[in-house]
Amino acid sequence: MSPELEIYLDDADQAEQLRADARAGLTAPARWLPPKWFYDSRGSELFEEITRLPEYYPTRAEREILVERAGEVAGVTGAETLVELGSGSSEKTRLLLDALRSQGSLAGFVPLDVSAAALGEAVSTLARDYPGLRIQGVVGDFNRHLKLLPGGTGRLVAFLGGTVGNLLPADRARFLAELRSTLDAGEWLLLGADLVKDPAVLVPAYDDAAGVTAQFNRNVLQVLNRELGADFDPDRFDHVALWDPEQEWIEMRLRATRAMTVRVAELALTVEFAAGEDLRTEVSAKFRRAGLTAELTAAGFQVRRWWTDPAGRFSLTLAEAAPR
Ligand code: SAH
Ligand code: AVI
Repeated sequence: MSPELEIYLDDADQAEQLRADARAGLTAPARWLPPKWFYDSRGSELFEEITRLPEYYPTRAEREILVERAGEVAGVTGAETLVELGSGSSEKTRLLLDALRSQGSLAGFVPLDVSAAALGEAVSTLARDYPGLRIQGVVGDFNRHLKLLPGGTGRLVAFLGGTVGNLLPADRARFLAELRSTLDAGEWLLLGADLVKDPAVLVPAYDDAAGVTAQFNRNVLQVLNRELGADFDPDRFDHVALWDPEQEWIEMRLRATRAMTVRVAELALTVEFAAGEDLRTEVSAKFRRAGLTAELTAAGFQVRRWWTDPAGRFSLTLAEAAPR
């Protein structure tokens, strides 16, 4: 039986957002699409496949930190409610649920994700594995719906996987400030963020030998074809992953292999691509400790703990909502 999910984002709302994003991004001089549209049910499956690739270290590195530190997170926060943003499969989150449960503080879990498919599956599995835990899955957008999250005392918000790096800097500042304003002083944020490192490690993580990330990237075109009646031919776009040393982010793009005309029927839009023209589909920012601490402080958080995996590839920051 599929679980009951709370819907902050219904199909009509999603469709309207997609139309607005596609129109804005495809008509911009430098074409772009927001990364949240990767995650239909196929995109969420492909992301899970990415997490198992030899080149894609972030999931394994973050898990290593959680294995070591989940107990400390539970002890420091004493959280009663765990909220997870961009929760996906919530696989690593089990380490936090186990630690909070074994210290006896955990009453509820609120995973929020834009992908109803990924969320529904995660909630079903978790409900089976954590009998007695109050689980309230929320279909929503963490850029728009933080204010609607269930209130309560003793909340710990986990934002894992490095997804914070998929926000552009101004959006990230807005997001962190909004998150701080939804929390009471003394509540907590656990933030997973990937770290700046050698591009020889970073680039293959986004351009794997098996081509799974390329499929994930092209999947956004299938979403536009299905949802907006577009006629993209995904095979005519190359997957590109570039390290930008100034912005310190990986950029994923889809590059037109030849000149082509794409029709987006539902938008009554015709888009001309020149040969070699790029469509930016994602940035994945990489962080340094000082910069991330400064961003969290500016948003109204106090950093209480900072951990990395033994190889220093990925970070977890535990930050407390500061009094105003
Ligand atoms: N936290 C998981 C999944 C990371 S993948 C992990 O660490 O493995 C990113 C997840 O964020 C996906 O499940 C995607 O559907 C979700 N997501 C992306 N943009 C979102 C948005 N704007 N609002 C809510 N969820 C979003
Ligand atoms: C979800 N997010 C943190 C992933 C990342 O690494 O930026 C998405 C991803 N894109 C390509 N591979 C994985």
